[in-house]
Amino acid sequence: MTLIATESLFLRAARRERTERTPIWFMRQAGRILPEYREIRKQWTLLDICRQPDLCAEVTMQPVRRLDVDAAIMFADIMLPLMGIGVDLELVDNVGPVIRSPIRNQSGVEALRPINPQEDVPFVLETIRIVREELAGRIPLIGFSGAPFTLASYLIEGRPTREFVATKTMMYSEPALWHSLMERLTGIMIRYLQAQVDAGIDALQLFDSWVGCLTPTDYEIYVRPYTKRIFAAMAPSGLPFIHFGTNTSTLLDQMKSDGGTMIGVDWRIPLDVAWSRIGHDLGIQGNLDPLVLMGPGDIIEDRALDVLRRAGGRPGHIFNLGHGLYPETPLDNIARLIDVVKGSGVQAGVA
Ligand code: CP3
Repeated sequence: MTLIATESLFLRAARRERTERTPIWFMRQAGRILPEYREIRKQWTLLDICRQPDLCAEVTMQPVRRLDVDAAIMFADIMLPLMGIGVDLELVDNVGPVIRSPIRNQSGVEALRPINPQEDVPFVLETIRIVREELAGRIPLIGFSGAPFTLASYLIEGRPTREFVATKTMMYSEPALWHSLMERLTGIMIRYLQAQVDAGIDALQLFDSWVGCLTPTDYEIYVRPYTKRIFAAMAPSGLPFIHFGTNTSTLLDQMKSDGGTMIGVDWRIPLDVAWSRIGHDLGIQGNLDPLVLMGPGDIIEDRALDVLRRAGGRPGHIFNLGHGLYPETPLDNIARLIDVVKGSGVQAGVA
């Protein structure tokens, strides 16, 4: 029943098979950038949308219809499973997640109860079923979760941060508390991801958006055991699992053996440099600077072709941005980028 889905461009590239051209999709393609999404958002909050599987499936499909990308990503948020287990938070427009009572002690950690996805986030699983049916295997549906570090940083800080002062203070000063928080989040994310797999998701991505603020030593001690555990737990699914972070140039030597089948990198490192660091036995996703899309067409084309050139025609590259689309990105520029990548056929041409 997954015969056609396993043959999509994305899944073949994710398995590092040779493809006619490089597949492309965008982080944060669902929502924010699309006028048809903004129209829906006038009436409903993000959580309202997620809780109505038909509407959530519609929002997930919007970028597929309009942009003709090579993968769909579930419309959800990394904080959704935490909301499902009762964490009191708000997704504030143009800010991000704001938590009413940030976690600073053991009782805060203990309030994070285990998740039962069928009861706590049933709408996510129902949306997966609807979207898969609609996609009928043409392109895959990507499920995701936040990684324990990035989730912990929101829970501890209480709001988005640049410096991670409270996060690192806990990490260094109260390591037992830190590790018990990471333990809990790891267990919750494994169950959440497994439920998505059971509902029929085709590929997974772990968003560790802010992990690049750590030194390799601290990544090793405070984070890596947990990311490894998540990848190990999901390995039996056999699904492609993308390990994404930003600012991770100095962490790639570790990330490459954490268990992800592909690594997502941002634009701060040239794609060829990142890929040789990771090793060509793993796939790579990335890595155009999303703000290139605010520039003129010739710059977009030039920078996109540079990414493709650096991929060098090797199987295993999935084109994406180095981070999510910005809300202000002109749709015409996104369309132009897609045309460039689809038109280049670079993977077929080289090597
Ligand atoms: O990628 C997609 O298109 C699927 C949907 C998706 C959302 N959040 C919906 C959303 C995904 C994959 C996420 C992941 C996410 N959420 C991450 C990891 C990816 C990354 O960008 O680093 C992080 C760090 C969050 C936390 C979060 N939630 C932030 C920083 C914000 C931004 C605030 C803003 O207004 O831009 C949110 C809110 C959010 N999540 C929005 C959307 C569409 C915007 C508000 C809305 O439209 O309701």
